[in-house]
Amino acid sequence: MAVLKILVPLIVGLCAYYFYKSETFSPEKVRGKRVLVTGSSTGIGEQIAYEFARMGANIVVTARRENVLEKVVQKCLELGASSAGYVGADMSNLTSAQKVIEETKNKLGGLDYLVLNHVGGVSGLEKFRGNMEIVKSSITVNFLSYVQLTSSALHMLQESEGSIIVISSMAGRIGSPFITAYSAAKFALEGFFSGLRNEMRLRKINLAITVAVLGYIDTEHALQEVSNKMTLEPSSKEECAQKIVQGGVLRHREVIYPYWSQKIVLLLRDWMPDLVDYLVGKSYKVENIP
Ligand SMILES: NC(=O)c1ccc[n+]([C@@H]2O[C@H](COP(=O)([O-])OP(=O)(O)OC[C@H]3O[C@@H](n4cnc5c(N)ncnc54)[C@H](OP(=O)(O)O)[C@@H]3O)[C@@H](O)[C@H]2O)c1
Ligand SMILES: *[C@@H]1O[C@H](CO)[C@@H](O)[C@H](O)[C@H]1NC(C)=O
Repeated sequence: MAVLKILVPLIVGLCAYYFYKSETFSPEKVRGKRVLVTGSSTGIGEQIAYEFARMGANIVVTARRENVLEKVVQKCLELGASSAGYVGADMSNLTSAQKVIEETKNKLGGLDYLVLNHVGGVSGLEKFRGNMEIVKSSITVNFLSYVQLTSSALHMLQESEGSIIVISSMAGRIGSPFITAYSAAKFALEGFFSGLRNEMRLRKINLAITVAVLGYIDTEHALQEVSNKMTLEPSSKEECAQKIVQGGVLRHREVIYPYWSQKIVLLLRDWMPDLVDYLVGKSYKVENIP
């Protein structure tokens, strides 16, 4: 295993560097900060809102279902949020996306954290049959609305020297079968936001951009969609949200969760693409995919 002789020291080195570099996380940094979390009626977004609530932030949650958002707001307040409110909106409409930022500004007076998390416009794992409507709706909901929200909020974020936390996926790093339209939108996000991060640095604008690269997480929606079509074990959405918020608050460029299983695949990706495709392919139960 010559590969291991290279990989093991490399990984140990990276780890040492990572721990050396990392500051300690203090929840106090978040008290009173102003946070908008999209796609926060359920799943990881809901847990991210609760994570910020426990640290005493001012929170606005948004998604389509207002009756569900009301309950999330209630729970945020119970957990210790300084304030909590919601805006109902459909991200397939870019004008609505723009309005979410206007309403957030009215409620909070500014913004420190923009958490872009919603996902929609795709119908789960299925074979690609050339349906352009699915591709268009995925690109609109999962990419264009993220860019619209960012562009509408950019002024507020520059003023506060705030952060954008973008929820991506392994499907945004490795082309993923049976979710091609989703994978395309996540790749686009990675391109746009890493480009924007670089641009901000060169323009000496202190705006942090954290991209979260997630594996399979046990949200209700993902379990329902994936459990009989893949062989993977899901990771916890609560811990996932915790890691995302910590990485975001520390202004890290990337959060990978779960870490090791994915970091290794990412390291192999450029050198051994065929091996990576083989490993990825093994986790699908192709016969169960419609
Ligand atoms: N779970 C996983 O295994 C996994 C893996 C990798 C990456 N991720 C990423 O993690 C993030 C969260 O995923 P999740 O599993 O927590 O998703 P989820 O449970 O399906 O939640 C999606 C959220 O987006 C909202 N939403 C859907 N369509 C919308 C639309 N058109 N306009 C506005 N809001 C909309 C939903 O609320 P309404 O229905 O009320 O609108 C809900 O709050 C996504 O970016 C996803 O790509 C998840
Ligand atoms: C998009 O949203 C705007 C503002 O919320 C609304 O006026 C418009 O009718 C919506 N467009 C569609 C196609 O639903």
